[in-house]
Amino acid sequence: MLAASAAAINRDDPLSGLRLDDRPEPEVPGGWTIVTVKAASLNHHDLWSLRGVGLSEDRLPMILGCDAAGRDEDGNDVVVHSVINDPDWRGDETFDPKRSLLSERYPGTFAEKVAVPRRNVLPKPAEMTFEEAACLPTAWLTAYRMLFTRGDIDPGMTVLVQGAGGGVATAAIVLASAAGARVWVTARSEEKRRQAVALGADGAFESGARLPERVDVVIETVGEATWAHSIRSLKPGGTVVVSGATSGAAPPAELSRVFFLQLSVVGSTMGTRDELERLIRFCVERELRPVIDRTLPLAQAREGFAALLDGSVVGKVVFTV
Ligand SMILES: NC(=O)c1ccc[n+]([C@@H]2O[C@H](COP(=O)([O-])OP(=O)(O)OC[C@H]3O[C@@H](n4cnc5c(N)ncnc54)[C@H](OP(=O)(O)O)[C@@H]3O)[C@@H](O)[C@H]2O)c1
Repeated sequence: MLAASAAAINRDDPLSGLRLDDRPEPEVPGGWTIVTVKAASLNHHDLWSLRGVGLSEDRLPMILGCDAAGRDEDGNDVVVHSVINDPDWRGDETFDPKRSLLSERYPGTFAEKVAVPRRNVLPKPAEMTFEEAACLPTAWLTAYRMLFTRGDIDPGMTVLVQGAGGGVATAAIVLASAAGARVWVTARSEEKRRQAVALGADGAFESGARLPERVDVVIETVGEATWAHSIRSLKPGGTVVVSGATSGAAPPAELSRVFFLQLSVVGSTMGTRDELERLIRFCVERELRPVIDRTLPLAQAREGFAALLDGSVVGKVVFTV
């Protein structure tokens, strides 16, 4: 079957390790099922894998891709939850120390077929296309958990989303706005700021700009480039929720501000199956749809990876299979 895989790891030139070729169909362990992939969305995670973050040489070649929507063996349209747990794990799946995401230990979704544990398939809402549904399980789920579970946002709060064009960031803008928050964003380009406002942001600022007032919650996925600004932008008692560090993971911690202003720094990772179910219901009820920058056939995956790498994407890149 056609698949996009990491065949080699290269920190500086990640696309050099990307291969599009025929791969064997995945094995299906007991309790697992096969999903015929209709659409799969690209995440920054796939670039990290090609750089060797979360993927080691001994697991190559590895089919990439965390997210998919497709059809299960019984002909049902489904969305795939990407968090694969130890079979004995009970409770919040994201706290399982043995968890992995598809494409880390088990072959991912950039292929004609993907094998997943049966409990990892959820019904695809009829209201959404396969392309839209394929955006939900990583970027949108991560934004959902950051806002509602870890960030505990309430209507009327002011939420700052850093790096507005990203997959997680665009989801956070749409979800926070639909939940009644006042949403401010930063983005590096005028065009991305304009698009963020079109998505529902109430204010869009240049990266690092002084805001009109301090905010309740910051949604942080950029890391080093925006961390100091995130900390400086919080009200006393405010919360920064962090799930990623695209520009680097070791910024100055700004500890004196953290304790003097009694700030909370809260980590967040992916989301549970239950959260994915609630996200899907929220999107359907409120007619929210993922922001798709472009849709490409899987055979042209390299073009999508290149666009994500050069930072020109707003929202999600989706591959159709
Ligand atoms: N922990 C988890 O479970 C989890 C889940 C999903 C994602 N993540 C992580 O979160 C991060 C974002 O993921 P994504 O898929 O949303 O990525 P993405 O779509 O590639 O978005 C990255 C965004 O970050 C901003 N950015 C990148 N470099 C920057 C810099 N030097 N200065 C300022 N802004 C910069 C850009 O915003 P502008 O150009 O608009 O300014 C860009 O749109 C990644 O590191 C990913 O690994 C973690």
